[in-house]
Amino acid sequence: MTPYYEDDYVTLYHGDSLEVTDWTAADVLVTDPPYGRDWKSGSGMTNAEGRGRGSKAHGGIANDKDTQVRDAALGLWGRKRPAVVFGDPLIQQPGGAVQALAYVKPLDAGIKGAHAGFRRDIEMIYLVGPWPVGVGGSSSALTTGALVAGPRGLATRYGHPHAKPVDVLERLIAMTDGVVGDPFSGSGSTLVAARNLGRRAIGVEVSEEYCEKIAGRLAQQTLFEGVL
Ligand SMILES: C[S@@+](CC[C@H](N)C(=O)[O-])C[C@H]1O[C@@H](n2cnc3c(N)ncnc32)[C@H](O)[C@@H]1O
Repeated sequence: MTPYYEDDYVTLYHGDSLEVTDWTAADVLVTDPPYGRDWKSGSGMTNAEGRGRGSKAHGGIANDKDTQVRDAALGLWGRKRPAVVFGDPLIQQPGGAVQALAYVKPLDAGIKGAHAGFRRDIEMIYLVGPWPVGVGGSSSALTTGALVAGPRGLATRYGHPHAKPVDVLERLIAMTDGVVGDPFSGSGSTLVAARNLGRRAIGVEVSEEYCEKIAGRLAQQTLFEGVL
């Protein structure tokens, strides 16, 4: 299949990652799949019909009704190579997880839809497969220097409601070696982070709109600049 975008580091395919399987040739999986929570715009303020009341409606993420696409992709990947998989704390974790890290968002995040006054400011990052076991000194809470909400936030800047910060992805990718695979590329933060670290990456994204955003982001960005 012809890549949608290609440079010395990144190859991006437009398609369904269960059918376009070139990403399975990578050495490490670093991905942020549909969480399986049927997210819609303003889901933090969802009404009784499950519809968001946010002013900027978003129809939701492809294949986000349940965790089937995540679990099928992880099935293709297997458990013999390491995988880093983002997820929602309230949704069933992927099988074979050996460690759960938390992506702790900054103070501007998760204010809407708080329960009992607690912000929705944490997402999970599961480590699946063979990871070294031993004595550790790093906190499992990963923070970002990026803004998440508002006009300068990640979603607005990268045009994807669930864009992840490049600094957190760089930290995760730096724990690993080799080619990075991301079968749910979204706005391309994993691909940008890999390239920033001088690593090759193979991405797949089912939405052409997001492929366009990824290609634009990669084409514009100066190599190795530290963009969050
Ligand atoms: C949570 S988002 C990823 C966000 C990304 N980490 C970022 O920083 O922008 C998940 C993405 O998976 C895509 N997706 C869903 N099903 C897919 C499939 N079968 N193949 C490829 N992409 C898929 C969605 O369109 C969505 O953009």
